[in-house]
Amino acid sequence: MNVSYQIDDEVITLELDGDVVSGGNEVLLAKDIDLLAKTDWKESGYTIVPFLKDEDFAKVKAGITKLIAGIIESCGGKVDDKFTLARYHLYVDDALHLEVAKAIKDGWLVSEFPIDMQIVNDRMSELLNEKVCTDLKGSKYDSFFLRIVRPKRYTDNNPPHRDVWLDRLRHAMNIYAPLSGSNKNSALPILPGSQYLMESEIQRTADGAQLNGTQYTVPCVVSVKGEIPKMIRPSLTENEVMLFTPYMVHGGGYNLNEDETRTSLEVRFWKV
Ligand SMILES: [Fe+2]
Repeated sequence: MNVSYQIDDEVITLELDGDVVSGGNEVLLAKDIDLLAKTDWKESGYTIVPFLKDEDFAKVKAGITKLIAGIIESCGGKVDDKFTLARYHLYVDDALHLEVAKAIKDGWLVSEFPIDMQIVNDRMSELLNEKVCTDLKGSKYDSFFLRIVRPKRYTDNNPPHRDVWLDRLRHAMNIYAPLSGSNKNSALPILPGSQYLMESEIQRTADGAQLNGTQYTVPCVVSVKGEIPKMIRPSLTENEVMLFTPYMVHGGGYNLNEDETRTSLEVRFWKV
C-alpha cells in the first residue's frame, strides 16, 4: 500500500511493505515528565527562537564542519578548502555518504561539542523555565547528533514519527538547530499539537516494515485519525533553534533544495 504525507502544499508518497498497528487509548505525554508544562507554547508543542551568541554559533559551525570533513576523509573521501556543510553533497557519492551516515549515527559525546555544552543547557533551561541538561542520568545518551540531508536524496531522512516510540527517548525535549541549507524547502516538518493525540488515533508501521525499501529504527506514521498527516515546515534558519517535544509527530524532512545540503544539530535535554 501507499503512505502519503502532506508537507505544506507538497504531497509525498512512499510505498509501504509491512503491517500497520496502533496503540491504546492513552496519551503518552500525560504519563511522562512534561517539559512543555512551564512554557506558553505547550499547545503547539514547538517554539522557534534565537539560539546562541553569534561568536558561539560561529564556533559550533566551524567545529562541526571540521568534524565532518575529517569523517569524509577517514571514510576514504577528499575535501578541499571550499568544503562547507552546505556543499557536502558535492564531496560524497551515495556509497561514501552511507559510510559517513554510519559513522555519525550514534552521535558524539558532549565533551566533543565545539563549545561548552553548559551554555546550551543554560539556554534551554531558560526557555523551558526548568533546569535541564543533555545528560540523562545513568544512560549513555549524553550525546549530540548531526542530521545530514542531501538535496533530492529521499532516503537521507526519517519519515514522520514520534521519537517516544523508542522508550529511551521519553521524558525529553528535542532541538532542531540548522547549520546549513535549512529553509522552506528543507526544514524539519512538524505536526503541531499532535503530542496530545492518543496512541489509538495514530496508525504506524509495525516492526520490520519498510517504506520505499528502507527499514527505519523508529516506527513511521501511516495516518492520523485515518487521514493523511498534514505537516507544516517551520521557517527557520542558521542560529535559530526550534525546540519541539519528541511526543509530537515530526519528520519527513526531504530536502527539495536544488544544490544545498541541509545539516542540523539534534540534541535532547532531560530534567536535571
Ligand atoms: Fe525524530
